[in-house]
Amino acid sequence: MPCPSRSDELVFFVNGRKVIERNADPEVTLLSFLRKNLRLTGTKYACGRGGCGACTVMVSKRDPTSQEIRHFSVTACLVPICSLYGAAVTTVEGVGSMKTRLHPVQERIAKSHGTQCGFCTPGMVMSMYTLLRNHPQPSEEQLLEALGGNLCRCTGYRPILASGKTFCLESNGCQQKGTGKCCLDLGENDSSSLGRKSDICTELFVKEEFQPLDPTQELIFPPELLRMTENPEKRTLTFHGERVTWISPGTFKDLLELKAKHPEAPLILGNTSLGPAMRSKGCLYPILLSPARISELNVVSKTNDGLTIGAGCSLAQVKDILAERVSELPEEKTQTYRALLKHLKSLASQQIRNMASLGGHIISRHSYSDLNPILAVGNATLNLTSEEGTRRIPLSEHFLAGLASADLKPEEILESVYIPHSQKWEFVSAFRQAQCQQNALPDVNAGMRVLFKEGTDIIEDLSITYGGVGAATVSAHKSCQQLLGRQWDELMLDEACRRLLDEVSLPGWAPGGRVEFKRTLVVSFFFKFYLQVLQELKKLIKPFPVPNSRRYPEISDRFLSALEDFPGTVPQGVQRYQSVDSHQPLQDPVGRPVMHLSGLKHATGEAEFCDDIPMVDKELCMALVTSTRAYAKIISVDLSEALEIPGVVDVITAKDIPGINGTKDDKLLAVDEVLCVGQIICAVVAETDVQAKRAIEKIKITYEELEPIIFTIEDAIKHNSFLCPEKKLEQGNIEEAFEKVDQIVEGEVHVGGQEHFYMETQRVLVIPKTEDKELDIYVSTQDPAHVQKTVSSTLNIPINRITCHVKRVGGGFGGKIGRPAVFGAIAAVGALKTGHPIRLVLDREDDMLITGGRHPLFGKYKVGFMNNGRIKALDIECFINGGCTLDDSELVTEFLILKLENAYKIRNLRFRGRACLTNLPSNTAFRGFGFPQGTLVTESCITAVAAKCGLPPEKIREKNMYRTVDKTIYKQAFNPESLIRCWNECLDVSSFHNRRKQAEEFNKKNYWKKRGVAVIPMKFSVGFAATSYHQAAALVHIYTDGSVLVTHGGNELGQGIHTKMLQVASRELKIPMSHLHICETSTAMVPNTIATAASVGADINGKAVQNACQILLKRLEPIIKKNPEGTWEEWIEAAFEQRISLSATGYFRGYKAFMDWEKGEGDPFPYYVYGAACSEVEIDCLTGAHKSTS
Ligand SMILES: Cc1cc2nc3c(=O)[nH]c(=O)nc-3n(C[C@H](O)[C@H](O)[C@H](O)COP(=O)(O)OP(=O)(O)OC[C@H]3O[C@@H](n4cnc5c(N)ncnc54)[C@H](O)[C@@H]3O)c2cc1C
Ligand code: FES
Ligand code: FES
Repeated sequence: MPCPSRSDELVFFVNGRKVIERNADPEVTLLSFLRKNLRLTGTKYACGRGGCGACTVMVSKRDPTSQEIRHFSVTACLVPICSLYGAAVTTVEGVGSMKTRLHPVQERIAKSHGTQCGFCTPGMVMSMYTLLRNHPQPSEEQLLEALGGNLCRCTGYRPILASGKTFCLESNGCQQKGTGKCCLDLGENDSSSLGRKSDICTELFVKEEFQPLDPTQELIFPPELLRMTENPEKRTLTFHGERVTWISPGTFKDLLELKAKHPEAPLILGNTSLGPAMRSKGCLYPILLSPARISELNVVSKTNDGLTIGAGCSLAQVKDILAERVSELPEEKTQTYRALLKHLKSLASQQIRNMASLGGHIISRHSYSDLNPILAVGNATLNLTSEEGTRRIPLSEHFLAGLASADLKPEEILESVYIPHSQKWEFVSAFRQAQCQQNALPDVNAGMRVLFKEGTDIIEDLSITYGGVGAATVSAHKSCQQLLGRQWDELMLDEACRRLLDEVSLPGWAPGGRVEFKRTLVVSFFFKFYLQVLQELKKLIKPFPVPNSRRYPEISDRFLSALEDFPGTVPQGVQRYQSVDSHQPLQDPVGRPVMHLSGLKHATGEAEFCDDIPMVDKELCMALVTSTRAYAKIISVDLSEALEIPGVVDVITAKDIPGINGTKDDKLLAVDEVLCVGQIICAVVAETDVQAKRAIEKIKITYEELEPIIFTIEDAIKHNSFLCPEKKLEQGNIEEAFEKVDQIVEGEVHVGGQEHFYMETQRVLVIPKTEDKELDIYVSTQDPAHVQKTVSSTLNIPINRITCHVKRVGGGFGGKIGRPAVFGAIAAVGALKTGHPIRLVLDREDDMLITGGRHPLFGKYKVGFMNNGRIKALDIECFINGGCTLDDSELVTEFLILKLENAYKIRNLRFRGRACLTNLPSNTAFRGFGFPQGTLVTESCITAVAAKCGLPPEKIREKNMYRTVDKTIYKQAFNPESLIRCWNECLDVSSFHNRRKQAEEFNKKNYWKKRGVAVIPMKFSVGFAATSYHQAAALVHIYTDGSVLVTHGGNELGQGIHTKMLQVASRELKIPMSHLHICETSTAMVPNTIATAASVGADINGKAVQNACQILLKRLEPIIKKNPEGTWEEWIEAAFEQRISLSATGYFRGYKAFMDWEKGEGDPFPYYVYGAACSEVEIDCLTGAHKSTS
């Protein structure tokens, strides 16, 4: 079949509007098309791999067989536009808008306080919207499933789910004790000191005030598309891109012909396997064959002995088909189907299951595949077709291992999959352990099947396959063969475990590492299977007179817990807050739960983030070239091939920097040597981001490896490789105290790092102006002044020529304090050199590679205590992995040491800390700034002491907690009153002691499942340990119509700082918040700002806003006095007439804070905040699966 040289027209609909794309490029994704071509920027890019749900949109298609219209959610980042022929796409903009009509989903998520930074919100809205299109009154389980593929890094899922639950048929609360009441409802366990009962509120919204959901108001499926599907196009459609051609045949015969002609061309279905591979491994397929219009691939047929499912069916459809079959057939026939269904609930997310096909899943043969192990043990067969005819092959271990003799021929396609029914005396089970229940790849999974000789417990056939333990799905064929003919008893169990461990020998490089854990799962899964089958056997075998029936002893109740998986329950939660004083004027919003100022804009996609700013004239894109070596000399950099790529404008290197290239130890662009993989060496500037990224691959860098390469803290200690001197605090006489204690325990604690994963990756847009070297920089940062300063020194131009603008940031968490300045400065060099605006948007992969995260920690402790649990001496030494440059590592070490004592008063202490210099990307500020890692060491000591004393840990905590006004280890005065109040309240509200008793009871009754309850106090110091960081300014303008513009030095990171500032201004000026507005944070409006960090952003900026408002109000006082009955607008008009300045700068001079490390004393923190938290966790001791039970 000839392939036409001209592209066909690609026709689809977006938000009810027809899109005709005459030059559709198969490499372009729906996400990129929406954002760049249609300028629909509500759909966000956050991971680009289908993993986070930020790009969720709804696709509607008419099913050619059933003629029904299917609405399903997809992740637009994995959808090639060419796959959308004849489809209707709905984005967040098509759902509702602030300009026209808000959709109830949008209204409710905002009013339920379900948005913070708002970057994930459009995706959340779209997942919920799609659910409601299919189920206007969903169950809570359906809601949970619909949102399972949507990540949120700031809000927490409670308020998001709360908004969704308002659509559910009934919301059942936590139903504690079967009363139908929630344990956190008022009146229970509530002798709290938070306030009187009447002061405590739990409702943030009144459900009855929400606009109702009216399904008749939704966009209809475009009639034109209905007509198209009534007379489906049978001719082959072809879309030619720059590098790839997409061919979509209209008939099965044409598909087979095309496959014979292009045997190397993959079939593209869901693109959930091909897409990520093309992206990360750089695979390029010049021809893609799309069988999307071939109905033969979607045929489902039921026979007496099995089920045949078309390879083109999506995994979501497979789930429905299997569920239907399970409901129709007797239990014994559906063992395999039920095992598949179990995994189809947890495999990926609903979006991925909607997209991914059964055929694509099987053929991809991922080692972690959840379905292949079950299909293999279930004796599934693959129906293959080519022009030559059809044939069947088993989905065997040889097929899964990719042996050519057991595989598809290049010209064959998988038409369908046959899955036989199970039979009596046959049992099939599926096992899976992942880091979380939803949307996480499995660590290990398994499919297991056993067939017994009828009426006996003699194994006639046995198959076991594992995923996640090697390069492919692994079959334990040998072990199974050796167990044939054996009885299903403990002797067999023992032998099976030994044999399985022997046969499934995990290589050291097993994907995902954690080899020992995986080995445990190999046997744990079999043990569970053994018990499950034993249970079933007992039921079956009863009517049969089997000799020696003692072989089937009852499984004791204690062991039954091995059989139960944690149920996927819908999380329940209640937020309690203290209401304002009843005398507070109604108009004063301070202390009231005001919705996030941008909440509705988040929900409609109208909130503009850095990369949503429309393309500016002559804009170019930048992509970064990073080191592939951990420690090496750069011998040469060859840019020639890259510069020849069409669209490439320039490559920026260190030589192009007119000013200072970072610092001596932390260069913006590497010179001569690189210190870690991911260090930036140069940057390509091109007309499009695609060209810039392609050019990167053409840059040839030669290195000479250097030594020693240091990655771990242990290596750094060995090589004496540190970033800064040791920080130390000491009090009392620790050596003497150790002499006098009853017992001493020593231990080590390792705390891993953490990737930042703010949903909005690092991004910046630099716009050079034509005059006076001025630059406008739009940047996603917590510290615009730092970006401004760094750009100034890099370009060697004064700070006053550079204006940084921050409208909002899609999450920062500390990761956008230091690094944005690097990206801003490199982009600014590009802008200066080319004279063009430069946009730099980091891919998630680059962001994770280049930027560091939380510091991993290694802590050693020695603790001396009396037998009653009183700790007399504590010596802790900590090392953190700082990476290859200093960044914030010295400060993190200082804070770690300062905060190590947490809530405890121990008379003899020694805390030491050092930051290690390693060849990793530099680690940086991260929520808590060392406190979480350090506290884990301290709390581990407490637990160790408790274990030695035979006392519960909370007793040790209580015994050693600050009790009276005292001095901290750095000799700052400290009053523990609030700390103790928090502790007591937490014990009280959580019914801690009851809980502990219940957990102990539970543990006695259950051998394989255990519950643990803990309560931990927290004394957290806020602020920076330097006075100059505790200052803030604000600028407040009142305009002649009475409207007020507030600007301050804080940045909106999702924490709602702008909302709080307007609450303050509203109180001070005594006008409603609707009169007030905040546009952005700008270095031109408020200069020399401090990073929004250290938990004091709202605090210090609020004071500055208050100051500015008070100054203005003072100026207005005479006018108000003269006309007390006047309106705000009249007073402002009068003030203008009387030439009273209506603009004021507010300033907060801040707290004093200092720390003298020589003396080991100071006043480093303005104040503390306190907390106490109780958590109860249940763990499956066989697999490590765990669940927070409350
Ligand atoms: C975010 C994410 C999370 C995931 N989580 C999980 C998980 O938890 N567990 C799990 O098991 N999997 C998981 N996956 C993998 C997923 O199951 C597979 O990617 C998916 O099933 C592949 O199907 P597809 O239709 O998208 O294949 P495509 O990407 O379209 O194609 C994949 C391959 O299959 C071939 N192919 C497709 N159909 C046929 C056919 N009919 N005949 C011949 N060849 C064919 C193609 O040529 C291609 O080589 C995840 C994937 C993503 C993106
Ligand atoms: S799922 Fe598409 S951006 Fe994350
Ligand atoms: S609000 Fe969800 S990621 Fe920020």
